[in-house]
Amino acid sequence: MIHLYKKEIYAVFGNPIHHSKSPKIHNFFFKLYNFKKKYIKICASKNFFLDEITLFFKKGGKGANITLPFKEKIFSLCNNITKRATIAGSINTLKKCNDGKIIGDNTDGIGFLSDLLFHNIIKKNFNLLIIGAGGASRGIIYPLLKFGCNIFITNRTFKKAQILSKEFSKFGNIESVFYKNLRGINFDLIINSTSASISNELPLISYNIIKKKTICYDMFYMNKKTSFMSFCEFYGSKNVYNGIGMLIHQAAHSFFLWNKIFPDIKKTIKYLFK
Ligand code: ATR
Repeated sequence: MIHLYKKEIYAVFGNPIHHSKSPKIHNFFFKLYNFKKKYIKICASKNFFLDEITLFFKKGGKGANITLPFKEKIFSLCNNITKRATIAGSINTLKKCNDGKIIGDNTDGIGFLSDLLFHNIIKKNFNLLIIGAGGASRGIIYPLLKFGCNIFITNRTFKKAQILSKEFSKFGNIESVFYKNLRGINFDLIINSTSASISNELPLISYNIIKKKTICYDMFYMNKKTSFMSFCEFYGSKNVYNGIGMLIHQAAHSFFLWNKIFPDIKKTIKYLFK
């Protein structure tokens, strides 16, 4: 017999999941609007995650976030998939509709763009450098091109940057550049989408591309400065950001999909992360 949830429940599924800040953020959103809803984290099994997510919805779960390593693997669970999730090739948000159908969406890219707009650090026609060509990079390219930026993409394994630039060239200006050819290009914004900061490493880009006014953004978030942030500051950038804003904004877009309210970002930062 299936025990149904007593409250309206939302969850994030991942493995590992102990580090996830999503419950903190979403439960704060619920509190802000006096919703009697709850958001939990679930460590899904690497083999049976599809069954576990299905069971969650059968028990009355209303919505879910999906994180590593399942984002690319849950397409088959969805009845409808949004255009941005299809283009990103990954799903981070699921919504169960009243008719029982499940929508798969991706709010990572729009969350990232929203954070850049929130900080007023992006303009149409900006030259962006994206370092890295993994899932994190793939998720942000489409909204940035649609916004009107020119993207240069580089990666330690250059072939992967080439593949991404080819795939996304139908949406706007994007070209792949070797690490060693970055010097000489003027970048307004440099984005580190690699996972190097997790292990305190750095992508081996030349410090020459960093100027005082260059905006530098590490998509990774930790409680102290990441290695990439320290590197950029050391070589002169006065505008350095980490991925906390992106995390809050992607959560806000998921929340909007579920509740039709876009939560107050300033309050969230003030009460949770200052
Ligand atoms: P994600 O889905 O989180 O982006 P991923 O698909 O494993 O993770 O991609 C990780 C990215 O970080 C890749 O671009 C990887 O470069 P490679 O394609 O050459 O592996 C990059 N990366 C990880 N550690 C790095 C390091 N120390 N220096 C440079 N790039 C690194």
